[in-house]
Amino acid sequence: MKTQNRLTQNWDYILSLDSDRWLFHADVLVDKAHVVMLEERDIISREQSRDILNGLIAIEQRGAAEFIEQELLAHVYDDVHTAIESVLIRELGEGTGGRMHTGRSRNDEVATCIRIALRDDLIEVMKDVNELRSAVIAKAAEHVDTVMPGYTHLQHAQPTTLAHHLSAYSDAFARDFTRLVAVYERTNVSPLGAAAFASTGFPLDRASTAKLLGFDSVMPNSMDAVSTRDFVIEAIACFANLMTNLSRLAEEIILWSTAEFDFVRVPEYYITGSSIMPQKRNPDFAELVRSRTGTVYGCLMSALAICKALPYAYNRDLQEVTTHLLKATETTAASVSVMNRIVAGLEPKEEEMKKKTMVGFTTATELADTIVRATGISFRTAHKIVSSLAPVLTHKEIHELESGGDILRRIDALAVDVTGKKLSELGLTGENVKDAMDVCSNIEKRNVYGGPAKEQVRKTIETRTRDLNRDEKLIEAKEEGVKRSLEELERRIAELR
Ligand code: ARG
Repeated sequence: MKTQNRLTQNWDYILSLDSDRWLFHADVLVDKAHVVMLEERDIISREQSRDILNGLIAIEQRGAAEFIEQELLAHVYDDVHTAIESVLIRELGEGTGGRMHTGRSRNDEVATCIRIALRDDLIEVMKDVNELRSAVIAKAAEHVDTVMPGYTHLQHAQPTTLAHHLSAYSDAFARDFTRLVAVYERTNVSPLGAAAFASTGFPLDRASTAKLLGFDSVMPNSMDAVSTRDFVIEAIACFANLMTNLSRLAEEIILWSTAEFDFVRVPEYYITGSSIMPQKRNPDFAELVRSRTGTVYGCLMSALAICKALPYAYNRDLQEVTTHLLKATETTAASVSVMNRIVAGLEPKEEEMKKKTMVGFTTATELADTIVRATGISFRTAHKIVSSLAPVLTHKEIHELESGGDILRRIDALAVDVTGKKLSELGLTGENVKDAMDVCSNIEKRNVYGGPAKEQVRKTIETRTRDLNRDEKLIEAKEEGVKRSLEELERRIAELR
């Protein structure tokens, strides 16, 4: 299988060793299933299948790292697929080893391997996402009463609770989960038997190899089967979306751990010190989650750019897509796991959060709403009155303010300018004003579906916990299905050996 250009110094330019290491186990699996099927269809003899399967098992036992180092690199093979076949031929002779690739091409082989490796990694990422959801929900459940300022434009906006804020992330991660499930379903379809692209004249049983490998179905068009990497793009896009959600949480944790916010203490194992400043507790792990989001976007752009305008069917360009998939997958899996632990160990500072909720006139919306309900004037007019009051109140802590009655007098003065009438004459009382300025009562009033009131958040936490249990079972079922298929494959191999 050696050609002239293998002797040039540039041979390693065509290699993708990290991808090949990643695909090694999937490749052996694909070879085994293909051989079992070839024997089943009488395309190869029982003895030939036995020898090839034994040879494959010996290769498998050497492990990816050793095999690639000692075979692929030492003999300058094209890739892991060629290396495995070449070693088999060396060990068994071409009369037997040379039959494994009957009715197959590396094109359908590699596409099948990528789908298997990705399927397994998707399961791991989905489990990690579920652990993260669980950590976020658990932290939220501890902080249903932890009041904090909610922000828009990073300016104090309205009071909320840490539970409500964290539940928002748990919903985002739940959507990430459902996206991953959809990608899994489109990934777990078998291209095997498509051969180079036009299938083969051998009477292969594509359904049989698909079943033995734990695929849910067979790709119906043999050209599509080898040409497409849309499932890869979709997977990386999912990872990019997930990383975006992670990066926002990472960014908030970074901000919240500054002296300016002082909302949280980041767990000890997820901070670093400074080589010069003895006092530093730097949130480097969260910062790297933030930055690696960019890395994953880069993988997505690369995959899209490589696939764009590629003529059908297979082109070697497709090998390069796998590299970016692997990088995106590994980066995302590691980032989810880091964020899971950061969230689990996060120590919120309830007093500080509450204190900061008292500044920035976070109750202004509720004051306007209260005015509407007490007096019947329009929300827009109430908004005008309260916004004239804002410059006085924004930089004070709410508990430093005058009594409800004093604020009512200020409101009346402003209201006369805006509407020509005092709001106290329209039914607004000092008691109404006092209540509107209370942050806890603000939160409790926001008791509509999805709002921060305790009743709503408790319900949310209950439902999300149920959703999570359901989703964990879904993953178990998928894993179990694949496991049963691979056990059947092993049983068939045992029969033939
Ligand atoms: N290593 C190659 C890849 O990842 C395998 C397929 C090579 N096929 C070919 N016809 N050159 O795409």
